[in-house]
Amino acid sequence: MSTPTARIAELAAHTGHVVTVRGWVTHLRSSGKIAFIVMRDGTGLLQGVVVKNQVAPEVWARFSELTQEACIAITGEAKAEPRAPGGNEIQVSGLEVIGPSPLDYPIQPKEHGIEHLLDHRHFWLRSPRQVAIAKIRHEIEQAIHDFFYERGFLRVDTPLLTAAIGERSGLFSTEYFDEGNAYLAQTGQLYGEAAAAAFGKIYTFGPTFRAEKSKTRRHLTEFWMIEPEVAFNDTHDNMRLQEDLVSFLVERVLERRQAELAELERDVSKLKQVVRPFVRLDYSDAITLVRRKGSSAKWGDDLGAEDEALIVADYDRPVFVMNYPKEAKAFYMKENPADPRTVLCDDMLAPEGYGEIIGGSQREDDYDKLLHRIREEGLPEDAYGWYLDLRKYGTFPHAGFGLGLERTVGWICGTPHIREVIAFPRMMHRLRP
Ligand code: 4AD
Ligand code: MG
Repeated sequence: MSTPTARIAELAAHTGHVVTVRGWVTHLRSSGKIAFIVMRDGTGLLQGVVVKNQVAPEVWARFSELTQEACIAITGEAKAEPRAPGGNEIQVSGLEVIGPSPLDYPIQPKEHGIEHLLDHRHFWLRSPRQVAIAKIRHEIEQAIHDFFYERGFLRVDTPLLTAAIGERSGLFSTEYFDEGNAYLAQTGQLYGEAAAAAFGKIYTFGPTFRAEKSKTRRHLTEFWMIEPEVAFNDTHDNMRLQEDLVSFLVERVLERRQAELAELERDVSKLKQVVRPFVRLDYSDAITLVRRKGSSAKWGDDLGAEDEALIVADYDRPVFVMNYPKEAKAFYMKENPADPRTVLCDDMLAPEGYGEIIGGSQREDDYDKLLHRIREEGLPEDAYGWYLDLRKYGTFPHAGFGLGLERTVGWICGTPHIREVIAFPRMMHRLRP
């Protein structure tokens, strides 16, 4: 009978039995008589103990030739060992090399510059910190699906190849047969609005693209966005949905990803303060606040990263900045009946200086006002014909928002730059690997 194989995370079930575990070498150490192999398989860390006079000479010889990142299979009796890295140990009787790794592995246990790490992202992903971030990202993605599923939202997958519609920022284009240029989607929202009239409550979950020449710690050219759109929600319902979602995500990570937060040395006391209701600040008050703190921002401007940091510095939880001036925001936002210079929108700013993680609004549902805004912005009217139709045939009040996945994960993980929270980041100067 052949020996069963096990993943490291499942080893507890094999205590006292002989198993084979496959994975990659992370550390090696030997006294000449007794040797230790620390290996990982993506589910955990395992220590293998090789005792020279208890194993066949060829097993000891193979150990001597092991290098960092070699892919190996070790066989032996499993036991719990609290002092071992990962808490598991195997008394090695068999050792096979599945894939050797030359000594010049590009990532060594020393400080590397960020460009070197990004150039070797295909290897950097293996480091404990990167594994922890990936697991938290996955937890957040799954929590988002659970949140909307439990609340009766339908997931709609919107197109990534579009005619010229979307946000104001730069477009990536590609030739599209006889149709002229196609553009990579900056948002799924406009399709989401059509879907909301068909299905009531929907959300999208997909990649979006912005050809922005921004080299900041929170800009990617390809990022993932989650965009709910709800028929009959107004701007206040919209903000409540946002704070429900964001507090749900934070709670979920605190509950299920403690080990990963600890690996990242995240100050969880800060995350525990993320409780509803979040702070609500009118745009005009936000301008007064930042000016009092020395900003030169004036009424009418969009808020920059520095202004956002000034605003959140006063609070321990996310802050909504509401009702921006029309000219600072996208054409589709609904005019504020209480102050027609402004629109019914909100940006959610994360605490600790992480800045805007959500942009949302009630949508303009008046045909003439929307057409007027499209013309004012000089947008191609023909590309928006179908979108205007939604205001012609059974127009309805509705609202929605876009949550930036990487910004949210970056904040919850406490990473200084969002390039670390996506497996293979795309930025202005980075298309490889
Ligand atoms: O504020 P934005 O541009 O809003 C929209 O796209 C709307 N259509 C959303 C909607 O109402 N359905 O983008 C939404 C969020 C931002 O708050 C930010 O978190 C993220 O997307 N985001 C970016 N993340 C990484 N890199 C970039 N270049 C980003 N641009 C926006
Ligand atoms: Mg925005």
